Amino acid sequence: MIKLIVVENYEELSREAFKVMKEVIDSKSHPVLGLATGSSPIGLYKNMIQDHKENGTSYENVTTFNLDEYVGLKKNHRETYYTFMHKNLFEGIEIPEKNVHIPVGDSEDLDGECRKYEQAMSDYQVDIQLLGIGGNGHIGFNEPGTSFDSLTHIVELKERTRQDNARFFTDLEEDVPTHAITMGIATVMKAKKILLVANGENKADAIYGLIKGPVSEDCPASVLQNHDDVVVIVDKAAASKL
Ligand code: GLP
Repeated sequence: MIKLIVVENYEELSREAFKVMKEVIDSKSHPVLGLATGSSPIGLYKNMIQDHKENGTSYENVTTFNLDEYVGLKKNHRETYYTFMHKNLFEGIEIPEKNVHIPVGDSEDLDGECRKYEQAMSDYQVDIQLLGIGGNGHIGFNEPGTSFDSLTHIVELKERTRQDNARFFTDLEEDVPTHAITMGIATVMKAKKILLVANGENKADAIYGLIKGPVSEDCPASVLQNHDDVVVIVDKAAASKL
């Protein structure tokens, strides 16, 4: 079941998303969070950092698993999701490094890394999985056409995804990696609860596909219609086609 919340703007979206996240964190002694990158969750992460600083919410016993990572960049490259997460969240909430899991995109054995990541995740259960959504309906880096049965795997990025993400790379578009490692759709669906956030008009088609479209591999996010507990928070622009 999908609960849809439409808000006025990005600030409100980030506050609402924080409330959902915080409720899960507060209800568990050892919460397991599935986390996402991209610009959409940054406001939520700012709320988490502020709450940690002002209210002392502890991340000592929190475990995290990130959705995806680029292939081929060294861990400390400024555009890896490893760097993104440390800069935008982990440093601000003082989470122990041993609790943090991000796929290793520069592993020499990428298939082995996929299996290892899936195994590590199956030792836990994700209490809440945070998602953004790509303009083409992708979740994580699961592009249209990805099997709903997929586990953690290597993907070739679609041109639109590379172009969408090119803005983060200060050098030319050629620098945007061509491949990524991502949790599969079946991996994402194992989470007890899913929280998806999206803002802006360029997400309107994808949000339509997610909420009203047929459940189809053409729009990976539509699979969420089959999950028991999903909260989707969008601003008016992203909801404009509903
Ligand atoms: C990337 C990430 C996705 C993210 C998407 C949207 O492709 N792999 O996990 O949801 O971008 O990003 P943004 O929130 O910046 O629009």
